[in-house]
Amino acid sequence: MCGIVGYVGNKSVVDILIDGLEQLEYRGYDSSGIAVMCDTEIKVYKAIGKLKNLREELCGHEKEFSSTTMGIGHIRWATHGAPTLLNAHPHTCNCGNLVVVHNGIIENYKELREDLAKSGCVFKSQTDTEAVAHLVARKYAQCKDLKEAVRLASYEIEGAYALCVMHNECKNTLVITKRNAPLLIGIGDNEFYAASDVPAIIKHTNKAVYLEDNQIAELTPESMEIVDIENNKINPKIEILPWEPVALSKMGYKHFMLKEIHEQPDVIRNILVGRLHAPDEHVVLNEVKLNHETLTHLERIQIIACGTSLHAAMIGKYLIESFCGISVDVEASSEYIYRKTVTNERTLVIGVSQSGETADTLTAIKQAKAKGAHILIVTNRPDSAMAREADSLIPVNAGIEVSVAATKSYIAQLMAFYLLALYMSEIKDSIAPSTLTSLKTELMLLPQKIEQILSQKDNIQNVARNYANTKDFIFIARGINYPTALEGALKLKEISYINATGYPAGELKHGPIAMLDETMPVLSILMNGSVYEKLLSNSEEAKARNARMIALTNSRDEKLNYLFEHIIKVPDVQELFSPIIAIVPLQLLAYYIAEFLGKDVDQPRNLAKSVTVE
Ligand code: F6R
Repeated sequence: MCGIVGYVGNKSVVDILIDGLEQLEYRGYDSSGIAVMCDTEIKVYKAIGKLKNLREELCGHEKEFSSTTMGIGHIRWATHGAPTLLNAHPHTCNCGNLVVVHNGIIENYKELREDLAKSGCVFKSQTDTEAVAHLVARKYAQCKDLKEAVRLASYEIEGAYALCVMHNECKNTLVITKRNAPLLIGIGDNEFYAASDVPAIIKHTNKAVYLEDNQIAELTPESMEIVDIENNKINPKIEILPWEPVALSKMGYKHFMLKEIHEQPDVIRNILVGRLHAPDEHVVLNEVKLNHETLTHLERIQIIACGTSLHAAMIGKYLIESFCGISVDVEASSEYIYRKTVTNERTLVIGVSQSGETADTLTAIKQAKAKGAHILIVTNRPDSAMAREADSLIPVNAGIEVSVAATKSYIAQLMAFYLLALYMSEIKDSIAPSTLTSLKTELMLLPQKIEQILSQKDNIQNVARNYANTKDFIFIARGINYPTALEGALKLKEISYINATGYPAGELKHGPIAMLDETMPVLSILMNGSVYEKLLSNSEEAKARNARMIALTNSRDEKLNYLFEHIIKVPDVQELFSPIIAIVPLQLLAYYIAEFLGKDVDQPRNLAKSVTVE
């Protein structure tokens, strides 16, 4: 849940580390630190809070590290121990000769700490990571070889980790390793980078090696040597990274979130390219290996995901059941992994994850794979750990999402489910050709409809202004838009910290209605279709309890003006596609409310973009 970077080469290292950490801020941002190899010794600098505090901390020390060309850096999202200076990385062994940065969780850290304390190690922090610093230092004292010390320590460490290690006695050598946490090596001219994610290095190089679990790499300006845990030499596979540096700029928007919301029409167009050419053509999903036989033998589909991806999964269930008539269960990955699921060779397990690295989903996928299920991964990161577990893959091509709150990746995941449900229905022949053509026609029109919503965003900003000071917010919907209500509420709470909840409207009178009074805003996602009248009557029930009513609607029904204090109008769309249209104003509403409140929109407190710990 943290971000790590490393560099060894011939350039001045501090800016490389700090720039790299800035690109990893989405992974956590409650403290940060760097260690650099100075002329005589390694120097460590740390700061609590955001990265800008570390920048300030470094001011005035420039002379100390002006000629340094090797270092490691870390941005932390606290798991073990509060976000304090002592708990911030890098961590050192007792003599300060060895420094380490770590992303992940060392599960046996208590045992390691006890054992190391007995042999004289004195712990300064409450972190799991400090145990690694002492352990590797102890191994180094025995073998005097940093790579070997890390390799030997790997046998004793349990859990998930990506590590970068330096030692005072190895002036030009960076050693890195990983297990169940992401880490890649960027390759330049007589220089190597290490990072938790591509954005930290893409500015410098697009040549990279994805380190595999239990591999240890020794990097010097001239060489890269990789071994596995048994010390067998590995021939690394060098890959060319697909991301463009321009993707990381705000391009004139105030926040990445706003930019990413505006990218959504193009995200839809991108995912359609090569997959749906025309309404009368078949959907092409080249990396999906499901055929008539596998689908005929399928007993069930399970979709597993977390957070926003879970909401996309819930809509996926609705689509697959409607289009293909196959029973689908959706479950939070964190629940799936701790129970006996009925999963076997006749199960299709779909993992949905923007990052492809979320620990709970990754574990769930591995469990399902071990039970023989066919694994299909829907992800924005075709280079991720989850993608590497996949039998079938749908890369959603949303581009790098920097804002912690997911927006464009959600739309892209929804699009993946539309395409998948259509693709499976074509294989199963479960929808009449004329209906298929009409569905595909509508799908291809979605980008223009979102552009229409974006062009009227000032209206949504005005509505937002009226609710910025509310303490609570309720979103109601029915049918395919119930997950939209959940996602609208999640967006609002994560960036504005307003207590927001999504309900299936029929549940209101089973409890939540007790909360309604003239202070409570209730936003009704009132899209034309099968549940319109039902939801209208639920909205009337809420209005009768004096709630402050807001409609998000594509209906032009005049009587809505009497029922609702504010109406957010969206273009008309077939009910099945309404979740794509309905979520955009809700993202904007959350954005503008958070902006009015002066919140840190792109980096909300306590959150991280990639949750690589369970
Ligand atoms: C919300 C958000 C999170 C993620 C969740 C899963 O805006 O971003 O709820 O959706 O942490 O992450 P991925 O999709 O990377 O598995």
